[in-house]
Formats: sequence, structure tokens, C-alpha cells
Amino acid sequence: MITELLLTIVIISFVIFYRQRRQQMAVFKEMGLPGPEPNFLFGNLLYFLWRPLYISFQNWCKIYGKTYGYFEGPTPVIVSSDLDFLHEVFVKQFKNFHARKVYPVQVDPDHDENVHMFFARGERWRRLRSIVNPAFSTSKMKDMMPTINKRVNELMDIVEEKRMDNKHFDMYELFQRLTLDTIADCGFGLKSESLTSKDDVCLQNCRNVIKDTTKRPILFMLGFVFPSFHSLWISIYNILRYISFNPVFWLEDNMARIVKERKSKKASRVDLLQLMVTSEFDPTAKTSEDDADIIDSVVKKRFLTNDELTAMCLLFLLAGYETTSTTLAYIMYEMAVNPEVQKKLQEEIDENFPDETEQPDFHALTKMEYLEMVWCETLRKFPLASTVVARQCMEPSKVQGIDIPSGMIVQANVWDIHYDPKIWGENPEQFKPERFTTEARKNRHQMAWLPFGGGPRTCVGLRLAQLEGKMAIVKLFKKYSFYPSKKLDIPMVCQEGATIMPKNGVQVNVKLREHR
Ligand code: HEM
Repeated sequence: MITELLLTIVIISFVIFYRQRRQQMAVFKEMGLPGPEPNFLFGNLLYFLWRPLYISFQNWCKIYGKTYGYFEGPTPVIVSSDLDFLHEVFVKQFKNFHARKVYPVQVDPDHDENVHMFFARGERWRRLRSIVNPAFSTSKMKDMMPTINKRVNELMDIVEEKRMDNKHFDMYELFQRLTLDTIADCGFGLKSESLTSKDDVCLQNCRNVIKDTTKRPILFMLGFVFPSFHSLWISIYNILRYISFNPVFWLEDNMARIVKERKSKKASRVDLLQLMVTSEFDPTAKTSEDDADIIDSVVKKRFLTNDELTAMCLLFLLAGYETTSTTLAYIMYEMAVNPEVQKKLQEEIDENFPDETEQPDFHALTKMEYLEMVWCETLRKFPLASTVVARQCMEPSKVQGIDIPSGMIVQANVWDIHYDPKIWGENPEQFKPERFTTEARKNRHQMAWLPFGGGPRTCVGLRLAQLEGKMAIVKLFKKYSFYPSKKLDIPMVCQEGATIMPKNGVQVNVKLREHR
């Protein structure tokens, strides 16, 4: 009798759940948007088991057109490569689309004390961003040049050892070591010596954090399929801390210690942490994107709390290390397989930096047009952080005649945009820096190039990444020429993790330049 009763309850609950899901998943049909047929439990998530997101988006675009919808569990996501549509969402109607996508295992963006800028939304985000923005100003970047230069010189010593060995080596791995030491140093004085010691514990833990999401696929899948149990997934994730070693918590504990020490002493160094400790938020200041409406006690605080500082430092460490090294790796790949471009870049470097032993001058760096064109074209071909370029609708909105309900996600289909021949001309697979002459840029849509995202929530670390990346490129190509080794993947093979990265590194050979 009890068994029959339980069975009936289970069947009735399943039928209610099934009907609810089907109703939720009718939303795109009601909106008149095409898209792949979802499964009632997983939505379209199973499609991603066999192929990365950025490839899936391109496949679906071929079938359903520039703007379509799919489901992550029950959560509806609009994907678009329509530039005017994206401009409305990311720029013009930012006040309705100020939030990012909420991931299954992340802090609560509205209530947790230790939310960082990447996940925060509304007024919380505005406060964090206005405190952080000054730390990335041009003058602060100039102050960081000696530290970056010191680290690049350490990289040069390793490349010299590799040259003497006369064997091929992986430049991606070296760039990861460079960018970790640089952000640790420029960021908060964290002891990271990964350039001089390959087994540096900080480097190992950063690498493991990047891999961490792939280590807990079941928890992540459950989070996507049943998003309403968000607090449960977070609790399980936190409990796992005591069962198995989690590198995120190792880094967090170290950051918390550094923050505490810094606040208790008079500062002797200028770095991102110090700038955040002293920077103050003025709650009465208005910006154009100011009326998002989460007002609470945290928002009124003028200075960042210890928890917030710790979360921000961890964010900068991971964002600064992974993205910049991957960009440098792709630049190295393109230079090795395009020797004529490499030569042209070296000529520009020779003109601007006659003395290879000196620290590159800031103004000369920003004046180098060809270097800028190479940087932009690399990020066009490899927009490695494309999957985070998304916004959540916070108020019912109308975009290009489409009614978007609150809660819906809008994801930019960056790879399709970056490979659209109508925007970039014939053969977008080809590496052609000339696509970024001043003239060509002037005539292009604001949303055509999105490696750093778009609108008020665009990447805050762009200047730092550019400065560090360009200093490394100038010094390396001033002294050396790089060639593809037999082990280099041509064409490049990418894999999707936290970013879209070279699967087998960038295997090159190096020689001293003859005429420098
Ligand atoms: C070439 C290197 C980099 C690339 C390609 C990159 C890419 C991106 C992208 C695509 C976004 C999302 C933008 C959007 O949603 O519109 C983003 C946001 C962000 N990036 Fe970067 N990034 C890089 C370097 C850095 C560095 C060096 C830092 C800090 C040290 C950093 C910190 C951040 C932060 C804090 C955000 C969130 C901004 C906000 O929500 O207001 N990034 N980045």
C-alpha cells in the first residue's frame, strides 16, 4: 500500500515537473525564435558533451541564422551574431542588461559579502568597478613597467638557455610562467617565482584552478539542470574542500593573508592591491549606467572590505594570468607561421627600440602601429574568452522587435562575428594585420571586434594585458626570430577550458637575429 502510494506520488511529481519544463521550454517558440529542440531535463546541454561551446554556436548559426535560442537545463539563452542586436543589449540598453550569466557553482551575486566584480551586478558592480577603474589608468600602468620589465628579462634568460640547447620548446608554457609572476608581482606582491622555478606551488595551483571545472562535471551538470537548488550545489562544493584538496581555497587563503598583512602595515609598494585599499567609492556619483537597483548595506560602503579585497585579488590573479599568456601564445604561433609578418614587425621594433637592453618606452610602445595591428588580428582570429561575453536580462525589454523576458541570457556569438567575410573581407582564416589599419577600423561596426567584450562591462584589465604583452613581444622579437618546430600544430588546434587555448602548446625553435 505504502509502496503504491509512494509510486503514485513519484509519477504525479514527474508529470508535473515534465509539464512545467515543457512549458518553460516553449518560450522561444512563443517569441518566434528558431533553435535546436531541447530535451526536457538537460535542454541542449548534451550537445556540448561532444563539441565545445564556440563550435556549437557556429554550427547552430548555419542552421538557424544570426539570432536563435537554446537551453542550458531550463535556462533560455539567446545567441546572436547580429551586430545591431548586440549593440542594443551590451551598450544602449545596458541598464536592463547589467548582469552576467549566473554559473551553477558561484557566489550569490546579490547577497554574498565576498562577491567580486566579475559576478557582481547592478549597484554592487558599479561600486566595485568605480573603485577598481583608477588602478588600471595609464599613469598606474606606467608605474608597473619596471616590474614587468624585470619579469620579461627573466623570460629572456630562459629563452636564451633554450636557444643554447638548440631544441624545440613550448612557448605557451613559458608565457604562462611570465604572466603569473607579473600579475602576482604587479597585483599584490604574492611570492610567485614560476619563471625561475618550474615547480612553483602558486603556478601549479593556478593551473589546477583553470582545470577545476572539468574535474567536477557532475556537480556542474546538476547545477545547470536544477538551477533552483543553487545553494545546495554551493554547499556541496564547499564541503568538498574538507574532503579533497581544492586549489581555489589554497589561493584564497593566501590572498586573505596578504590582504590582512597589507592593511596592518604602512604600504611600501604600489600595486593593484594597494590602489584598491586606498581607493574610495562615492555613492552619490552618478554614471550613465547607474540606475540598476540593488541597494543594500554593502553598496553604501566606501572602501572595499577584506573579503571583497581577497575576492578581487583572486579574480585578477586568474584573469590576468590565463588570458594574457594565451594571447601571447597565439601571437607567437602566428609569427612563427607567417615569417613575412614577423619580419615586418621586427623592422618596426628596430625603428622604435634601437637598444635591446633598455626598458621599452611607454610612448614608443603605444605609437607602434604594426604591433597594434598584429595584436588585434591575433585576437580576431582567437577571441579566447568569447564564452563570457554574455548578459542577463534584468527587466523585460524589447530588442529589435523581440520581447525579452527578465532572466533570459543573451550570448554574443563572437567567433562567427570574427570570421564573417562580410565584415573582414575574403578568407578570414588568413592572418592579415592590414585588417586593422586606422582607416579600416574607422569604417567598422563598434561590435565587430569583441575579444574584450563590449559596453560598460568590457574587460577592465585590457591596458595591463596590452602593456605586458607588447613589452614581451618587443623584447623577444628584437633579439630573436622564431620558427615552427616539427611538433607545432599547423593549423592551430584549440581546446576549450576556462578559455579557448592551444591544445598542444606552441612548439617553436629560436635563433638569434643576424642584423639587429
Ligand atoms: C588579453 C588578455 C585578456 C582578454 C582577452 C580578456 C577578456 C575579457 C573578456 C571577454 C571579458 C568579458 C567582457 C564582457 O563581458 O563584455 C573580460 C572581463 C574582465 N576582465 Fe579581462 N581579459 C584579458 C585580460 C585581463 C587582465 C590582465 C585582467 C586583470 C588583471 C582582467 C580582468 C577582467 C575583469 C575584472 C573582468 C570583469 C569586468 C566587469 O565585469 O566589469 N582581464 N575580460
